[in-house]
Formats: sequence, structure tokens, C-alpha cells
Amino acid sequence: MKEADGILLGSPVHYSGISAEMKAFLDRAFYVTSVNDFMLRHKVGAAVAAVRRSGGLPAFGQLNNYLNYSEMIIPTSNYWNVIYGTDPGDILKDEEGKQILRILGRNMAWLMKTIAYGRGRIEEPAFEPKVYTNFIRE
Ligand SMILES: Cc1cc2nc3c(=O)[nH]c(=O)nc-3n(C[C@H](O)[C@H](O)[C@H](O)COP(=O)(O)O)c2cc1C
Repeated sequence: MKEADGILLGSPVHYSGISAEMKAFLDRAFYVTSVNDFMLRHKVGAAVAAVRRSGGLPAFGQLNNYLNYSEMIIPTSNYWNVIYGTDPGDILKDEEGKQILRILGRNMAWLMKTIAYGRGRIEEPAFEPKVYTNFIRE
């Protein structure tokens, strides 16, 4: 992840959220990056969810929470990045889902090339250390 220009997060939908394995991985991986000067900052990041029927959007939102916490740059598509299927290969029958992910892939690749081109040409916003507050009042 540290070496990558772009990161694509994907998960099946389990009980209307991401899989337990993916959550365990992302919680620790993204925590480590955030306490190390947000080391994924300005990398391109996107999320996709695969679902049998319902719960795709909460899972998609859950994946996006990690990207949004990291100052990553998120490409989009022409809908939310959810594709339908139960068994391996089922998603190939979801024509709209395939278009959503095809457009996402192209936009992501283009964004990564654009950012690479701009490196050294266009000044990056300076890093601001994160401000942490809680809701305790003195
Ligand atoms: C534990 C579990 C929970 C699931 N929960 C949902 C769900 O909330 N909504 C849904 O539409 N499908 C649900 N499914 C179906 C999966 O989204 C779908 O079958 C997916 O492709 C499973 O991928 P996997 O075999 O890699 O876990 C669930 C499947 C499993 C195994």
C-alpha cells in the first residue's frame, strides 16, 4: 500500500456491511497510516462492494470511510460502485454493474496518470498534522 499509486478496496456484503476479515484488516492498516503522517495521503483510492441483494450501499459507504479519513483522492463512476452476484462469476451477468466498474476503472487510471503528471509541476497542499478533539468540556 505504501508503494502503490492507487488502492482499490473491495468486499462482499455480509449483514449489510463489509466482511469481518476486511474490517479487521482495514481498521489496523488505516490506523497505522493515520498515525504515521497519513502516509496514504494523495494516493488514489476507490471502493467496490459485491452483494447478492441488499446492503451494498452501507458496505460501499463503510469502505469509503477509510479513504475519506486518509486524504486520499477518490475517483467516481456513473453510479455507486456496487455489483450484484452470489456465486463466483455471477457478476458477469450484471451489465449495469459491469459498466459502473468499467467507468470507475478508467476514471481511476486517468486520475492516477493525471496526479503523476502533476507531481513536481503543480504544488501539493502542505500537510497539516491532524487536530484531535473530543467532546469533554472543562
Ligand atoms: C455471512 C454472510 C452474510 C451475507 N449478508 C448479505 C447481506 O446482508 N445482503 C446480501 O444481499 N447478501 C448477503 N450475503 C450474500 C453475499 O453478499 C454474496 O453471496 C457474496 O457474493 C458472498 O461473497 P463471499 O462468498 O466471498 O463471502 C451474505 C453472505 C454471507 C456469507
